Amino acid sequence: MFIYKVGVVGAGAMGAQIAQVVTFAGLPVVLTDVSDAVARRGVETVRAIYQGRVDRGKMTAEQREEKMLLVTAAGSLAALRDVDLVIEAAPEDLKLKQDVFRALDGVCSPGAILASNTSALSISALGVATKRPGKVLGLHFFNPAYAMPLVEVIPGLATEQQTVDDAVGFAESLRKAPIVVKECAGFLVNRLLMPYLNEAVLCLQEGASSLKAIDQDMVAFGMPMGPFTLLDTIGNDISLEVARILHRSYGPRMAPAALLEAMVKAGRLGVKSGRGFYEYGGAKDQELEGLIQKAGQAAGPRGTRWAPSRLLMAMMNEGVLALQEGVASARDIDLAMVAGTGFPSDKEGPLHYADRIGIDHVLQELEESARSLGMRFWPAPMLRRMVDAGFTGRSAGRGFFTY
Ligand SMILES: NC(=O)c1ccc[n+]([C@@H]2O[C@H](COP(=O)([O-])OP(=O)(O)OC[C@H]3O[C@@H](n4cnc5c(N)ncnc54)[C@H](O)[C@@H]3O)[C@@H](O)[C@H]2O)c1
Repeated sequence: MFIYKVGVVGAGAMGAQIAQVVTFAGLPVVLTDVSDAVARRGVETVRAIYQGRVDRGKMTAEQREEKMLLVTAAGSLAALRDVDLVIEAAPEDLKLKQDVFRALDGVCSPGAILASNTSALSISALGVATKRPGKVLGLHFFNPAYAMPLVEVIPGLATEQQTVDDAVGFAESLRKAPIVVKECAGFLVNRLLMPYLNEAVLCLQEGASSLKAIDQDMVAFGMPMGPFTLLDTIGNDISLEVARILHRSYGPRMAPAALLEAMVKAGRLGVKSGRGFYEYGGAKDQELEGLIQKAGQAAGPRGTRWAPSRLLMAMMNEGVLALQEGVASARDIDLAMVAGTGFPSDKEGPLHYADRIGIDHVLQELEESARSLGMRFWPAPMLRRMVDAGFTGRSAGRGFFTY
């Protein structure tokens, strides 16, 4: 199916970015929100993104105006009557999204695909709110959508293969890198990223190292920014919400760090609230020290060791668990983490990295961490099978990949 016209529901941060990406590829978009005025604000965000390109000399003002002709604002879903695909980017609330999908089902033509940009909610649960679950799927863009190449394509339990193929083709036409991910909580990228970020918070809470040292060490490893800078950028409230969804689905290994909860309770949400793990404004930060002490005393061990591998082991182990479950192939897991989180491309992703340092070493470190730090590090069973069979990674010529 060829997609000639797109609708976007929710003209906030992601909705506006997605509308820009779609118009950049030359397709018309109707950007809707709860009122005309809010939708028009979204159109202004699209304009601001294009203006950034003009300022950097990447396009002319005339080209910007040509692209802007492709976006229209609307305060009602009724404006989506003739679109071929809708991408919903309303707030992360299942009931609200189900209401939106029910309404879209009534408005859009029967052949239209209904996609959600949800970060962690069930696609299947959105599908059942409609009479066309075969045409509902997840199309998960990353922030900022104009810069991040990855798009997770997530079929729900009832999604037809044709819908998946159409969505992959559409994402490719946007010059993005789509990866099909089996539905699971957090999909692929958030499922692997959250244990990594949560482990950073646990390290801080346990007094293993300082905020700045942890950030610096992860940047030295090759990450585009440290975990606390990333948490502050995402918003601690959003991360906590994702962590809770993962915890509900995967159990104790994903329990959110007490300090993350305390940060949200204290209103330290990150860049958007002026302070998070870092203080944005220059004042000396005594409150954070107090929160760390309190969370550390209330939960878990103190004075544990710090090493970047603590964060990497948490991510790699979750990657192996996802691989075992068939959520994605080893290649796609690595591609997703490089394209979606900036995992250093010279290390080719967490599973290539595991092959490089040796699967036997990964297994040993996870076993030791499970003993000393907590059962969240219990090694994925596949690792032991690999070691027993001599699939120990690059030096053996075979591991997750063949060399
Ligand atoms: N912000 C991110 O980094 C990010 C990244 C990937 C995915 N997501 C997901 O994208 C979605 C949107 O996130 P966001 O950060 O853009 O949120 P946002 O709060 O910036 O925007 C949400 C928009 O939806 C509008 N809205 C509320 N109720 C509506 C309704 N009933 N109908 C239509 N519009 C409605 C709001 O007015 C607002 O403009 C969420 O599901 C989120 O999980 C966010």
